[in-house]
Amino acid sequence: MKYLTLPAILLLAFGCASAPDGVKDDPSYANDIQPLFNTSCAACHSGASPAAGYDLASRAGALGPGTDTIPNVVAGQPDSSELQRRLDDGTMPPSGRWDSVKVHTVRNWIARGAKDN
Ligand code: HEC
Repeated sequence: MKYLTLPAILLLAFGCASAPDGVKDDPSYANDIQPLFNTSCAACHSGASPAAGYDLASRAGALGPGTDTIPNVVAGQPDSSELQRRLDDGTMPPSGRWDSVKVHTVRNWIARGAKDN
């Protein structure tokens, strides 16, 4: 019986996860998240007047509400985060939907507490 336990645990741990291969379980803001924002978002969401008042040039800005009152990042709750919703439904970036590795990397960062790591 005990030899069945490890595969069962592995199946539970990885089989149910929806994240594709190549997604870090605990992404670093500085190394994994900010570079994605710099490449795809900063053209509009940084500078003197960022789009929607939402500044993605820093973690503090990413956690900010923008001009509306809808929370863009709720630490630990990607499904309550407007930022995640926009990535999931492909409305941001406007030039085209991110691939699923990028989308899930941000999801894991938020799910792990949107840490300053
Ligand atoms: C070409 C310009 C442009 C780019 C690039 C862009 N955005 Fe946006 N974004 C906007 C505009 C304009 C709005 C305001 C209109 C709206 O809410 O759709 C907005 C709104 C948002 C909002 C809602 C903010 C709020 O508080 O109302 C989020 C979240 C967001 N963008 C995330 C992103 C992310 C993440 C990226 C990069 C993956 C990105 N955007 C790239 C133009 C852009």
